[in-house]
Amino acid sequence: MDHVLQVTELKKSFRGHLSIGVHHVLDGVNLSVPKGVIYGFLGPNGAGKTTTIKILAGLLFPDAGEARIFGRSSTDRSVRRRIGFLPETPYFYDYLKGAELLAFMGRLYGLSPSQLSRRVPELLETVGLKGQGKLQLRKYSKGMLQRIGLAQALIHDPELVILDEPMSGLDPIGRREIRDLILSLKEQGKTVFFSSHILADAEMLCDQVAILVKGRVVQEGILEVLLGSEVRFWDVTLRGLETFSPPSGCSVLTHRGGQVLVRVESEETLQTLLDKARAEGASVRSVMPHKASLEDLFMAQIPGGGT
Ligand SMILES: Nc1ncnc2c1ncn2[C@@H]1O[C@H](COP(=O)(O)OP(=O)(O)OP(=O)(O)O)[C@@H](O)[C@H]1O
Ligand SMILES: [Mg+2]
Repeated sequence: MDHVLQVTELKKSFRGHLSIGVHHVLDGVNLSVPKGVIYGFLGPNGAGKTTTIKILAGLLFPDAGEARIFGRSSTDRSVRRRIGFLPETPYFYDYLKGAELLAFMGRLYGLSPSQLSRRVPELLETVGLKGQGKLQLRKYSKGMLQRIGLAQALIHDPELVILDEPMSGLDPIGRREIRDLILSLKEQGKTVFFSSHILADAEMLCDQVAILVKGRVVQEGILEVLLGSEVRFWDVTLRGLETFSPPSGCSVLTHRGGQVLVRVESEETLQTLLDKARAEGASVRSVMPHKASLEDLFMAQIPGGGT
């Protein structure tokens, strides 16, 4: 398969306070990102996501292992022009205006004045900052800074976009807009690698994910395969019952005003429940199957996170 990004046995340690002790932050990270996918890099706080991303962006050097992008070392200059990067905490010069920041970044990548005069307003609109380009960055809200950060990552039309927590600081509408933007990047044939804490967003977006725990990838793969298609439980809503004792294997979640919500964990019990409910004169309002979510998968991987 054509891999845009390949990380092999990446290791990084930091010295502790006053150089006492060594903190192994990345302990042999391996991952492969095929061309054209949206790839979610997930893990709890302190797992090493930003450290990995800084190595990919050439801001940190690993102690061992390597990151190859487009088949070359991530430190190769020719690779840098083909990558767009949004850091976790982007810092921009406060007195610069939004459009000036984009023009500045564009010039660094060698865009001509005529290319810039087209590209800058186009990008401002794409990230939802139309009409805000003349405002100084110190007057931007956190969400606006996140958007301008994304715009600067895209100014040179990169093939691979690396985003560290792109949804952070955004309200639900902003998150949806960024999700749509990430999907449109994929439609344009680009590869997107992003870290996130917001599992629901990752679940809606990602083709593939890696879950990083304590500097190691504990799960990697196609999201649908990792999640499986198995139903974990069903929630059944019944109407028209004043009293109801469910068969064993079911638990009543709520019982209010003649409406009962029952959770069932096997298909067999589901049939028994439905038969019993009908026999007692109930009407079945809904049967909702629940598959494993990315959150279930994630929680199962972190110590103390559940089953
Ligand atoms: N420059 C540094 N010096 C010392 N320790 C560091 C340095 N950078 C990161 N660390 C440590 O490395 C660990 C991993 O940090 P990192 O920022 O990569 O995690 P993360 O997965 O991005 O977490 P978060 O979800 O909170 O952003 C943390 O324990 C952090 O304290
Ligand atoms: Mg981080």
